[in-house]
Amino acid sequence: MTDNNAELFQLSPEEHQLTQKLQNIINHEIEQAGGTISFARYMELALYYPSLGYYSNPLFKFGAGGDFITAPLISDLFGQLIARQISELFSFGVAAGILEFGAGNGKLACDILMMLGAQITHYYILELSADLALWQRAVIAEKCPEYLSKVVWLESLPERFNGVMLANEVLDAQPCNLVRVNNQEITELGIGYSLDFGYFYHDYRSNSPAVNAARELNLPYLNYQTEINLSSRGFIRSLSESLERGAILLIDYGYGESEYYHPQKNRGTLRGFYRQQVLDSVLYYPGICDITASVDWSSIVSTALDSGLEFIGYTTQANFLLNCGLAKQMQQLKSELSEPEYLKISNQINKLVSPNEMGESFKVCGFSKNIEQDEWLGFSSGDRSYSL
Ligand SMILES: C[S@@+](CC[C@H](N)C(=O)[O-])C[C@H]1O[C@@H](n2cnc3c(N)ncnc32)[C@H](O)[C@@H]1O
Repeated sequence: MTDNNAELFQLSPEEHQLTQKLQNIINHEIEQAGGTISFARYMELALYYPSLGYYSNPLFKFGAGGDFITAPLISDLFGQLIARQISELFSFGVAAGILEFGAGNGKLACDILMMLGAQITHYYILELSADLALWQRAVIAEKCPEYLSKVVWLESLPERFNGVMLANEVLDAQPCNLVRVNNQEITELGIGYSLDFGYFYHDYRSNSPAVNAARELNLPYLNYQTEINLSSRGFIRSLSESLERGAILLIDYGYGESEYYHPQKNRGTLRGFYRQQVLDSVLYYPGICDITASVDWSSIVSTALDSGLEFIGYTTQANFLLNCGLAKQMQQLKSELSEPEYLKISNQINKLVSPNEMGESFKVCGFSKNIEQDEWLGFSSGDRSYSL
């Protein structure tokens, strides 16, 4: 570990115990597999192993003092503007139900329920982490108890869903495979373990679904490492199978294929976080550190089209929020609030829309199934689909 990162980690005895337990489980699996597991499997264990993985354990992670802050935690306006888009979809005749994936600490659900709670029939949440599901229930019970009875936590996707599916920063937390290209040879990287060095990257296989998917891309052929996210493709296919009639809204950081697999990104987009600091390696302390990779939006859109969804739009988070009425909302707040209150909200909004913060790097993508209207408020200007 670099000195920089060693100083950052002051693990409590509880954190030490947790990561040690998880490392024993991962090491056992590596041993059983003959010395190497895929990076996707490592990431799955590190993030989602029941009660120990990063998202499954009860350690604090969201917001100031945690490891990362997401848009709903920055400002209530984020959820309120998403609710406007959803409300428009209801006016198109989409059934008034919502299914949110990976609802984090429940903040987005609360903001949407406070806007649309009276109108909707149910708000489903599909969450992989039992601990986060408990947390979401407590937050909703505290902030909007009148709508708690409409919220239902699901264990799996409904066979047939009518309504609006929503996922903010979920795709970036899905386990990805790693590939390396050298002298035009593509290899999938796996993870090995040794007592001396801890976890290390290892050439794993030259024939696998990830390698085949990488061959379809025009990757630079010298000393290039990147991610292929097969689980996100599977996720999109399963959403399409479940959605009978309605809409899907996905929000996350990422780019189209040509930018994602640009020669300059020769170490890919994979990164680890601890206490809002980017780590030098994503392999430090499984269960304690967050692991994430940007979204290759081209592969999401092409998978969606192949699985029968209609593409509606792709734009930046800034454009989407402005299209949903952000400027008007701010004008109204200016006339209602004191100057310091308004300044506080302006700073929050700046984080959501400024090109140097989340405004450009985060994208919003919309799909539909069996609805006629293909002109949605959020995508009315600032189309970026040319970059896919
Ligand atoms: C970065 S957090 C984002 C949380 C929240 N949406 C927010 O914006 O604050 C990622 C979330 O995605 C969830 N997640 C990842 N893959 C998922 C899947 N396939 N289905 C449902 N939830 C998933 C994780 O458990 C976690 O709650």
